[in-house]
Amino acid sequence: MGKEEPMKILNLYFSATGNTEKVANRITMTAQKLGHEIDTVKIVGDREIDLLGYDFVFIGSGVYRWLPGQGMQEFITGRLTHYAAIQEIKLAAPRRHPKKVVVYCTYGGAHTGVNEAVPAVKYLGQLFDHLGFEIVGEWYFIGAYPDEGRFKDFSSLGRLGNIQGRPHEADLQEVAERVSGVLRL
Ligand SMILES: Cc1cc2nc3c(=O)[nH]c(=O)nc-3n(C[C@H](O)[C@H](O)[C@H](O)COP(=O)(O)O)c2cc1C
Repeated sequence: MGKEEPMKILNLYFSATGNTEKVANRITMTAQKLGHEIDTVKIVGDREIDLLGYDFVFIGSGVYRWLPGQGMQEFITGRLTHYAAIQEIKLAAPRRHPKKVVVYCTYGGAHTGVNEAVPAVKYLGQLFDHLGFEIVGEWYFIGAYPDEGRFKDFSSLGRLGNIQGRPHEADLQEVAERVSGVLRL
């Protein structure tokens, strides 16, 4: 797909405390600036969305016990069940050129750093890999924990050091750069 050609893009995200929403909003803003049409949907559970009706999908979530948030897991299970039932999930998962997906998370990594976010990103990617989308990015952005209650020290004493206030503006600028890069593919 040429870089001048506008694409139909879908931007799906789950966000419980607002961190992933900041990233998702920057993705939308960047894609629109580049002249693409983008539908942005906050996922809270199962929902009938025509994933195959898009050229390019962004899908992201906060990490909760190493996996995407529950609402996102429900959405993925629902879509997997639907596409399997109508035989769109095929053995050997043939590619559907030129459909592409970027999978990302925001995570705090207080115990084991990025390792505890890897399962979430792999989980998110598999629905699209099964459907034949090419995974063109697996992005990890740091997202601070809530700064009260049992998470009080998690954003300052964890494996990643001080992550208070993340994602901050520099993180979001990185999001915009990466989006510009992949939409040129
Ligand atoms: C209940 C809870 C559990 C979390 N579990 C993890 C975890 O297992 N691994 C991790 O890296 N971050 C974990 N985090 C940090 C979140 O992934 C991080 O704050 C993320 O940016 C939240 O995104 P959201 O606000 O878009 O949902 C947890 C946060 C909360 C509140």
